[in-house]
Amino acid sequence: VIVVRTLAELRATLAAARLGRRSVGLVPTMGALHTGHRRLIEQAVAQNDVVVLSVFVNPTQFDDPADLAAYPRTQEADLALAEAAGVSVYFAPAPDEVYPPGFRTTVALRGPIVDGFEGAQRGAGHFNGVTTVVTKLLSMVRPDRAYFGEKDAQQLRVVRALVADLNLGVDIVPVATVREPDGLALSSRNGRLTVADRERALGLSRCLFTARAAFESGVRDSEGLVRVGARVLAEHGVEPEYLAVVDGSSFEPVDRIDGEAVLVVAATVGGTRLIDNVPLR
Ligand code: PAF
Repeated sequence: VIVVRTLAELRATLAAARLGRRSVGLVPTMGALHTGHRRLIEQAVAQNDVVVLSVFVNPTQFDDPADLAAYPRTQEADLALAEAAGVSVYFAPAPDEVYPPGFRTTVALRGPIVDGFEGAQRGAGHFNGVTTVVTKLLSMVRPDRAYFGEKDAQQLRVVRALVADLNLGVDIVPVATVREPDGLALSSRNGRLTVADRERALGLSRCLFTARAAFESGVRDSEGLVRVGARVLAEHGVEPEYLAVVDGSSFEPVDRIDGEAVLVVAATVGGTRLIDNVPLR
């Protein structure tokens, strides 16, 4: 793996690949890599000649400075995982490289896709931070394909909308959520859970699986599904920030499921904010 920290180095490193018409895949991350990221990288390696992993803890998407400060940074381990998974270029820019002094652009989507759920809980700045940095990373790397986890379901929809609206000309490839054997969705934040909180955190996936089972046995009204899920959360002593059925593409709440929908949940467990979702199809 080649480690690059500046745009100039990145462009020089990718120049040969472009001349040779080799395909480039981008896996954008904020580091603290786990098996979920590994799955993204493996998918990218399977579909592209060259894989760029970006590792950048993007300050502009954190609404809470304490959350940004506490975000895990594990460079040695990240590099080892990247190398083992087959990454070609490890792009780890400093904040000034992405946002040089005088930087003045924000890429902001409008409407329900960014207003609800994560947008409502974390503030409008969160998705503006994500869409601005993703636009930057796509412009810097100019990949053929970019890989995003389904765990951040709303982010995935927002990025798809961004790419469509601005004709960014990159294929957005979704990759399924990876879970621990007991169901907990992998997240860089899980490491902050105490043993007792981890047990409570299982309420999220169990709530989703129980509601999904009800969906599979024929329940189609969202209220019924949410009621079933809420009971499981309560049994784990978890108070949801939201628990809702949303349309798979618009991310707006739906009353009845007749197309593709997603059941989404967010909750703070012992000071750690967790999100999860299951598709209902
Ligand atoms: O999902 C993430 O890790 C981040 O939101 C992303 C896409 C790398 C943008 O900073």
